[in-house]
Amino acid sequence: MSKLDDFRLMLGSKEYVPLVIGGMGVDISSAELALEAARLGGIGHISDALSASVSDRRFKTAFLREKAERYRGHQEMEHKRDVAFDLEEVRQATLRHVGGTMEAKRGPGAVFVNVMEKLTMNAPKATLKTRLEASMDAGVDGITLSAGLHLGSLELVAEHPRFRDVHFGIIVSSARALSLFLKRAKRVDRMPDYVVVEGPLAGGHLGFGLDEWPKANLKDIVAEVIAFLAKEGLSIPVIPAGGIFTGTDAVEYLQQGASAVQVATRFTITRECGLPDSAKQIYLKAEEADVEVNTQSPTGYPMRMLKNSPAIGSNIKPNCETLGYLLDSEGRCSYLDAYNATPVDEKGRKQPVRERTCLCTHMNTFKVYTCGHYVYRLKETTVLEAPGRYHLPSAEHVFKDYQFSEEHRIALPKLEGLALPL
Ligand SMILES: Cc1cc2nc3c(=O)[nH]c(=O)nc-3n(C[C@H](O)[C@H](O)[C@H](O)COP(=O)(O)O)c2cc1C
Repeated sequence: MSKLDDFRLMLGSKEYVPLVIGGMGVDISSAELALEAARLGGIGHISDALSASVSDRRFKTAFLREKAERYRGHQEMEHKRDVAFDLEEVRQATLRHVGGTMEAKRGPGAVFVNVMEKLTMNAPKATLKTRLEASMDAGVDGITLSAGLHLGSLELVAEHPRFRDVHFGIIVSSARALSLFLKRAKRVDRMPDYVVVEGPLAGGHLGFGLDEWPKANLKDIVAEVIAFLAKEGLSIPVIPAGGIFTGTDAVEYLQQGASAVQVATRFTITRECGLPDSAKQIYLKAEEADVEVNTQSPTGYPMRMLKNSPAIGSNIKPNCETLGYLLDSEGRCSYLDAYNATPVDEKGRKQPVRERTCLCTHMNTFKVYTCGHYVYRLKETTVLEAPGRYHLPSAEHVFKDYQFSEEHRIALPKLEGLALPL
């Protein structure tokens, strides 16, 4: 019986345990979590989403307050055309977050940064270029391009001195999306170093339509991508993601020809994960019927989350002066439109905004319980430490469970005291 540890991922001359912890935006995949993956020989991700906020929390900077001050007069405006990011601030915040993480890195693994194209930040190209360059300057090992086709992203940074040395990967959900990306990558003669193939059961945003995802199957898409790369004569590691819950699930993909797997949901309940402990307990208590894929995200992509996410139906005032990460180049966001279109009651109170949620604000305060489909199985992976309260395992425990497990067995964490039966 094979285990994941029987395989290795090769990226250039570097060798890794073939387990990647995926990016989980706004500091859910925290530096602590990514650093554990690297220490254990795998690959961990941080995310550069809302890096100003993350830097304020981690390093006591004041980026959000300063931006809010600058745009104090704009709160009542329906459009946010003039609420621009200061590129030097974006750069400084990214340097802090990514650079601080890289300085703390120990061990044989790597730390990558997840960079979402859908964070259009009122000036998509300029802000994306700044973010990518700042991550490279901060010494990141790799950049995973996500939440978008990223057709122009490599061109934006082709002149950077680390363009050919940093590992670049792209997340796709079809061979077609990959072929579009590769066409543009050829222009700068820079093939990606790995391709993450994200299937319909993943957490966060999905690269499938609302009616498409239930019919899609990760194994089929992985086979399609592997066949496509072979036909193109390209040897690029393929890394499936979405619903890979046990080490044996992972092994099945490696036997199919994948080079590693990317996982996330199992790590959401670890001590190092950036979610508050109260949210981790909510994930642990979730049942299958509590999970939905909806259109709450203003990005236009379907997103998977728990139905009891406080963000759903909230009528919070848009906070683009402070955040504004989803503003398009016209200064619009579909939550802004939904908020403006939602009436007030007879007492002048805003009614719940049903169509969309203010993703920036609610991801920043961990009120969107986004999760993979198998979130309801998390309770199988730990023990109760008090009535109604689950033990939160360490990232090392979960990492090693993926690495060494056989026959779909899940090793439970051991408690010092007496574990209650589930
Ligand atoms: C809480 C959470 C947040 C996520 N946020 C992001 C994100 O910001 N960017 C991204 O590319 N993927 C995001 N994902 C997707 C993961 O990186 C990963 O590819 C996927 O969830 C793997 O499937 P699994 O959760 O079933 O293991 C997120 C997943 C979760 C569970």
